[in-house]
Amino acid sequence: MKKILFICLGNICRSPAAEAVYKAYLEKVGETAGLFVDSAGTSSFHEGNPADARMREHASKRGIDITSTSRGVRRDDFEEFDLLITMDNSNFNILSNKAIGDDQKKKIIPFCDFLESRSESEVPDPYYGGDQGFEDVLDILDDGMNKLHEKVKNLS
Ligand code: 4NP
Repeated sequence: MKKILFICLGNICRSPAAEAVYKAYLEKVGETAGLFVDSAGTSSFHEGNPADARMREHASKRGIDITSTSRGVRRDDFEEFDLLITMDNSNFNILSNKAIGDDQKKKIIPFCDFLESRSESEVPDPYYGGDQGFEDVLDILDDGMNKLHEKVKNLS
């Protein structure tokens, strides 16, 4: 089983959206088998909460169902998961500081490394902004799916 964890700050906007968009992508290409996809936050502030209603609404208009419950990143995640995909530089730095040894550090990859036609270096936090921020998150996530999946398929 290959295991992929998406990470943002609160685990109520970007990373649950990434989890749901990747799961929908896997359904579309018929490659769900052998893959476990989850998401978590560097903060546990929203632990136990559903994803932000605005994020769910914007995703739902594209046929994407966000069903995950917020949780904080756990120590075990560094061992259990094969890839820890971060949404922004802050998430990347926090995770990198928590990783123990090169094997764990190598698992941490910024989502924007997988972008094909866009040039963002981070997935911007939509929490304090308006509708366009949520649309941008979904557009950025879509743009990275092909390359992310190539990476996942090449995991040994
Ligand atoms: P996320 O967005 O990291 O994409 O889930 C945020 C959610 C909550 C907060 C900040 C960002 N907050 O400050 O509560």
